Amino acid sequence: MIDTTILAHDIVIVGAGLAGLRAAIAAKENGIQDVAVVSKVHPLRSHSGAAQGGIAAALGNTVPDKENNPVASQDGGQDSIDLHFADTVKGSDWLGDQDAIEVLVSEAPSILYEYEHWGCVFSRLDDGRIAQRWFGGHSQPRACYAADWTGHVLLQTLYQQAERHGVKFYPECEVTSLVVRDRVCRGVIAWELATGRLIALRARAVMFGTGGYGRAFRITSNATANTGDGLALAYRAGVPLEDMEFVQFHPTGLYPSGILMSEAARGEGGYLINDAGERFMSKYAPSKMELGPRDLVSRSIQQEINEGRGIGGGEYVHLDLRHLGAAKIKERLPQVRQLGIDFVGVDCIEAPIPIQPTAHYSMGGIPTDLDGQVILDADKTPLVGFFAAGECACVSVHGANRLGTNSLLEATLFGRRAGRAMAAFVQTASLPGWPADALSEARAEIEALLARQRGERSLDIANTLRAEMTKNVGLFREKAGLEAALKVIAECRERFARVSLDDKHPVFNTDLMAAIELGHILEFAELVTVGALARQESRGSHFRTDFPKRDDANWLKHTLVYRTDRGPELRFKPVVITKSPPQERKY
Ligand code: FUM
Repeated sequence: MIDTTILAHDIVIVGAGLAGLRAAIAAKENGIQDVAVVSKVHPLRSHSGAAQGGIAAALGNTVPDKENNPVASQDGGQDSIDLHFADTVKGSDWLGDQDAIEVLVSEAPSILYEYEHWGCVFSRLDDGRIAQRWFGGHSQPRACYAADWTGHVLLQTLYQQAERHGVKFYPECEVTSLVVRDRVCRGVIAWELATGRLIALRARAVMFGTGGYGRAFRITSNATANTGDGLALAYRAGVPLEDMEFVQFHPTGLYPSGILMSEAARGEGGYLINDAGERFMSKYAPSKMELGPRDLVSRSIQQEINEGRGIGGGEYVHLDLRHLGAAKIKERLPQVRQLGIDFVGVDCIEAPIPIQPTAHYSMGGIPTDLDGQVILDADKTPLVGFFAAGECACVSVHGANRLGTNSLLEATLFGRRAGRAMAAFVQTASLPGWPADALSEARAEIEALLARQRGERSLDIANTLRAEMTKNVGLFREKAGLEAALKVIAECRERFARVSLDDKHPVFNTDLMAAIELGHILEFAELVTVGALARQESRGSHFRTDFPKRDDANWLKHTLVYRTDRGPELRFKPVVITKSPPQERKY
């Protein structure tokens, strides 16, 4: 029998990445004493720490010289909030909501200076200002960075601040339910790995900052923890999910594992080379070359591979950094170099690195307003007491394709806004009632899993699912493949109903954790595929070989997928266009 306990806090935040931590700090700064953060890993292992290359803000600290290398600006630079806005809208293939993008770009500098004042160890220019480098799809060198450890140092900075403010942490706790009744969020239920007990965490406000779901794919840059838990739990609790068909593939995952080799490598001048030794991006993005937006660069790499121009006819091309020289590589790209040495035995100072596109980021997620309040429809009906920010949320700043460096910014900035909004909300909200059956239902589910004597192992099902998602719901999609994927997902769900565990003990049971996570992946993999099948056009990261053109007449709209008794049901909502009418997207 699994032990249970019921606790309460003013605010419970699930996820200890940049969104969750910044929200917790904001709530504390705004006078809320009792703020708790639940994380299924130790906070400092949150996946925000894996982002490498930079965080965007139009500071204008550097300008391109004649060779396009960023050098210190003398006069405030050429960058502006308007340019950051224009680049982000174009990057999103006009699917990003422009009111949200306006907030993102105009509050960005304040986020950077806040990090700086909290002691974040940015790389700097000789005069002490924060250094800025190029990143794909940006028209100015705008990425503020700390070598290629940017996410890591931002995460350390926020964790220190959260500790300073006395935020309560529940590390290594997997949330198994979001408890909602009568459109009011009442808290969450978490399974604590170290004790095996279930903890009901009642709260006046709950926020999800639970990250993305790259682990739905065979090849991914994402950590093993990135299984889209928050998305599945929100969907099960009645929240629709927005724009799920838009999945970003990062161009440079290490071959064969998919580990991130930062875009900073191309920002610093790295080349992409095919088997014939050509810088093939000249065919696909002649003006931006390797620094085109990620959707375009990833598809170009995959096309080279598919047409037999991968290295030796194989499944990868080369990222060549040798011309940058040892000194620059060691100063700016130490992690990229070390990953190559450790995982494939290639030192990029001496040899090119084998790379392939890798599932990296989800543009869609839990729909929110500009303050992180979760909304249930196009009329912005709120789910009272429930907030979301960061990758799991869809305030829709990235639309159909995110620009690199905008995610660390989005997570921090909308985390801060959500934290402030929650603080205002809990000033007047009382602790909602707790449903008597919630904990016993959650316990019964876990006990049933532990008790099942025979069945399939979750890893076998997960491997089938991930291979299918990569094959048919990846960079290039078409009707027959998507229908085949839906069939495989349905079969995997049937098999999952019979899943059984080798480890039957509730304490530190990673077998149980993997099964719970697979249940989450199976929940939303179907939604990604349903959205991809419905959207009969190509836009940003979503490319249909049977509908290769963007179709604004029919598809300049967001999808919202609802859970119904008949299965997922798609509805739509308009894109917010303020000052940038849709145009053809050329690089
Ligand atoms: O390539 C990178 O360093 C990743 C950055 C991002 O996804 O924003």
